[in-house]
Amino acid sequence: MRRYMRVRFVCLLLGFGSVFYVFIQLAASLDSQNGWVSKKSQHRSTLLTGENVVGRAAASKGPVNQHRDSRCVNLSVSFWNPYWRLPSGVCGLNCFWESAFRFIIRRPNSSDSVKELAETMHLAVVACGDRLEETMTMIKSAVIFSIKFLEFHIFAEHELHLTFQKTLNTWPLQYRSKFNYKLYNITFPSENAAEWKKLFKPCASQRLFLPIILKDVDSLLYVDTDILFLQPVDEIWSFLKEFNSTQIAAMAPEHEEPRIGWYNRFARHPYYGKTGINSGVMLMNMTRIREKYFKNDMTTARLKWEEILMPLLKKYKLNITWGDQDLLNIIFHYNPESLFIFPCHWNYRPDHCIYGSNCKTAEEKGIFILHGNRGVYHDEKQPAFRAVYEAIVKYKFGDDPFHFLLYPLENNLLQTTHTYCGRVQHLFTKQLQKSIQKIQDTIPRVR
Ligand SMILES: *[C@@H]1O[C@H](CO)[C@@H](O)[C@H](O)[C@H]1NC(C)=O
Ligand SMILES: *[C@@H]1O[C@H](CO)[C@@H](O)[C@H](O)[C@H]1NC(C)=O
Ligand SMILES: *[C@@H]1O[C@H](CO)[C@@H](O)[C@H](O)[C@H]1NC(C)=O
Ligand SMILES: *[C@@H]1O[C@H](CO)[C@@H](O)[C@H](O)[C@H]1NC(C)=O
Ligand SMILES: *[C@@H]1O[C@H](CO)[C@@H](O)[C@H](O)[C@H]1NC(C)=O
Repeated sequence: MRRYMRVRFVCLLLGFGSVFYVFIQLAASLDSQNGWVSKKSQHRSTLLTGENVVGRAAASKGPVNQHRDSRCVNLSVSFWNPYWRLPSGVCGLNCFWESAFRFIIRRPNSSDSVKELAETMHLAVVACGDRLEETMTMIKSAVIFSIKFLEFHIFAEHELHLTFQKTLNTWPLQYRSKFNYKLYNITFPSENAAEWKKLFKPCASQRLFLPIILKDVDSLLYVDTDILFLQPVDEIWSFLKEFNSTQIAAMAPEHEEPRIGWYNRFARHPYYGKTGINSGVMLMNMTRIREKYFKNDMTTARLKWEEILMPLLKKYKLNITWGDQDLLNIIFHYNPESLFIFPCHWNYRPDHCIYGSNCKTAEEKGIFILHGNRGVYHDEKQPAFRAVYEAIVKYKFGDDPFHFLLYPLENNLLQTTHTYCGRVQHLFTKQLQKSIQKIQDTIPRVR
């Protein structure tokens, strides 16, 4: 009887041993697979975006793996060093528990979630008066094409808040889950509130205070309400990574053609470069803006962002025409090394075609971001701009974007060829068509 017990014990031991062996092999194979999660997410982004982003996902795989490798220390399991006593930085064959579970349990400070947080794209807009529908259309165009998660910071008069909430919350879940939004009242630094409010267009100078108000946001894309994205926001967001060490913000020139430029002909204050800059699409690394000391023509001392605005307004109050955009031009006139200039197809306005096409990069690549300033989405002056706006307003989430967005727009653009902008109508759909092709397969079928 006792011998029988002993045999059974040995059998049990052997059985346990083989199960243990299988488990270790399994763990090791999981580990050597180079992380199937990163493969999976790469696959997902391929689905979402097509070829273009694959390159970037592959590129971003590098650092992740490197990080993993440097974390892995070769330590072997021994009697004195059983796997449950190994330090957490050890991985490989040894820590099969870790390899088995690391993909399932998402640790709060794991490198993945940090990366995800950092890659949320922040977008701010200031919507006052009757700009509500326009703002919703801008947000819609951002949400339709974008890939990474978006966070909207919407500054609006209190009366509009409820309508924003109601509308955004009724968007289909598949789209609603691509973004978050926060509503803010229009606020000014209290001491000069009245003076700021007098500055030209109602609440337009709000954007100057964004680095001070949104203290926790590292980087931000500010856009006017009359912006339409014909391409994922991700593309312009990626300019942030291209900033050299002195650049803090990115904008497009105000004009391509000095003969019709405004600043170079009329401005009574300093401005950036040959024709000035347009602030309708403004990408900012606000961490850097908050840290920088700005050269200026008021004191020999350099001033921080929050210190420079009011003296600047006081000095140039009588000489500025376009309000806060003029102040930005003055600031970057004295700090030109801090500005990253992106080409005109990232901020395409009627000025670029009104007397004939003068934005060369748009002719090559198509329009990436449309800026219908001076109200052209709502009057008859630039029917080509208006056609794009109306096409996006009419498009319903989940409908086939070719048949319900692109083709009707192409038709409507054909009726605008009597205007100069209508004559280059293919520029309006060139990039849009590519953007639609990319999202085509992943359009959530809402209806
Ligand atoms: C772990 O061991 C492998 C194989 O012996 C070796 O190639 C690798 O460089 C070692 N890694 C570290 C961090 O020591
Ligand atoms: C905006 O201001 C109104 C009063 O004018 C106040 O009731 C509301 O709570 C404020 N909203 C936010 C988001 O601060
Ligand atoms: C404002 O414009 C006037 C007229 O062009 C000019 O003389 C004056 O120097 C300008 N003021 C500043 C602060 O540049
Ligand atoms: C913005 O600048 C800060 C400071 O240079 C840097 O740490 C941060 O990564 C930058 N943000 C982005 C999105 O590049
Ligand atoms: C960054 O780029 C700007 C604009 O091209 C340039 O003026 C500046 O000197 C550059 N800064 C560095 C540190 O290279």
